Amino acid sequence: MFRMCVVLLIFSSIYTVVVGAPITVTGYRGERVDIRCTYESGYESNPKYLCKGECNIGNKVIMVKSGSPAEDQRFSLSDDRTARVFTVTITDLRLEDEGQYWCGVKRTGTDVYSEIVLLVKHVGGGAPVIVTGYRGERFDIRCTYESGYESNPKYLCKGACNIGNKVIVVKSGSPAEDQRFSLSDNTTARVFTVTITDLRLEDEGQYWCGVERSLSADVYSEILLLVKMVVVGAPVKVTGHTGERADIRCTYESGYESNPKYLCKGACNFGNKVIVVKSGSPAEDQRFSLSDNTTARVFTITITELRPADEGQYWCGVKRTGTDVYSEILLLVKQVNKTTEDSTIKSFFSAEPSYFSTTETNPQSSSITVSDQNKSTDAVSEIYICVED
Ligand SMILES: *[C@@H]1O[C@H](CO)[C@@H](O)[C@H](O)[C@H]1NC(C)=O
Ligand SMILES: *[C@@H]1O[C@H](CO)[C@@H](O)[C@H](O)[C@H]1NC(C)=O
Ligand SMILES: *[C@@H]1O[C@H](CO)[C@@H](O)[C@H](O)[C@H]1NC(C)=O
Ligand SMILES: *[C@@H]1O[C@H](CO)[C@@H](O)[C@H](O)[C@H]1NC(C)=O
Repeated sequence: MFRMCVVLLIFSSIYTVVVGAPITVTGYRGERVDIRCTYESGYESNPKYLCKGECNIGNKVIMVKSGSPAEDQRFSLSDDRTARVFTVTITDLRLEDEGQYWCGVKRTGTDVYSEIVLLVKHVGGGAPVIVTGYRGERFDIRCTYESGYESNPKYLCKGACNIGNKVIVVKSGSPAEDQRFSLSDNTTARVFTVTITDLRLEDEGQYWCGVERSLSADVYSEILLLVKMVVVGAPVKVTGHTGERADIRCTYESGYESNPKYLCKGACNFGNKVIVVKSGSPAEDQRFSLSDNTTARVFTITITELRPADEGQYWCGVKRTGTDVYSEILLLVKQVNKTTEDSTIKSFFSAEPSYFSTTETNPQSSSITVSDQNKSTDAVSEIYICVED
């Protein structure tokens, strides 16, 4: 069975005669593109064809061949035998036409191929415009268009905006399904504006400003929308050690003394807001607590018995009407030095017993007192007793 496969592979490579490097052809969506395939003298009367994809044996997708109409009528083939060029014309180009093709010349035995890479672009698709909005706030996407399209319908399309995958979030003349989106068209200035209220992190992404045309392809311009949180300052790194206590200090500005405060873990996205502790109520994970010093305008989150899983991204949050204010915290949890038994501390506090057997204990202190404030050396001796037991 294996040998058979190898034989087939060799055959397929012998049977492929490829002429030259791939030629890149660029077309525009909705428009027409000509793919010109030259061939050598002697093949004037041979059948020609355009094959899509890898064009393997057993997977030869022939889009059009000479002498018969194509199944997809957007494809046609004409052969200029004097110039030794056959031309495949694709009308009403679609984004899914993009890809690899092969110009093929049929021969007895081995066909001759030359590779074509077809790129399909949006009309008007210059470089994307990158715009930035803030979560919870209102944002205007401005789409300019050329004169002559004042009365055409306008829309905003989200994502790749492909045929069969055209997610129109809002269109002129009708209200959007997601009521946070609205569109207004200033035909004097030739600008239509899509307003998004209460911007969410998941609104981030690729959009297309579209102008609908009836006889030819719509005109597009690409927008990349970035959605940020109202973040105060650069991320602050806090380092703690397994089994120990860590304090995360979150400062805030005057005026927010009475606002609720919280600590959010992870990306802290809309719909994915993991609040580990908030002011006024005890945390579910009792290792977390929050205290707010409104005089110093600092709220402090205390995490006791740190675990490796506590490591990661956090956000100090101050609740406001509208957008909350955030500052980013990166918590690093280090294993305390192995040679001084600190892997044992980890075992003890996180209840992962796997380290006990490999620990070589060598206590420096005989005290059994474990103080919340300062316990690393004391904790070691306590563990030591635990292990000997
Ligand atoms: C349209 O834009 C022009 C120029 O920017 C401005 O003067 C006019 O007030 C705008 N019209 C509307 C209805 O917004
Ligand atoms: C709040 O912070 C101030 C200044 O750092 C300090 O003097 C005061 O004792 C703190 N209050 C509380 C309740 O911790
Ligand atoms: C671990 O302990 C060794 C020996 O006491 C010391 O040389 C090393 O610097 C320690 N490493 C850390 C990360 O504390
Ligand atoms: C922790 O212990 C060390 C060594 O005993 C001492 O120098 C330090 O002041 C202590 N820190 C606190 C916060 O108690």
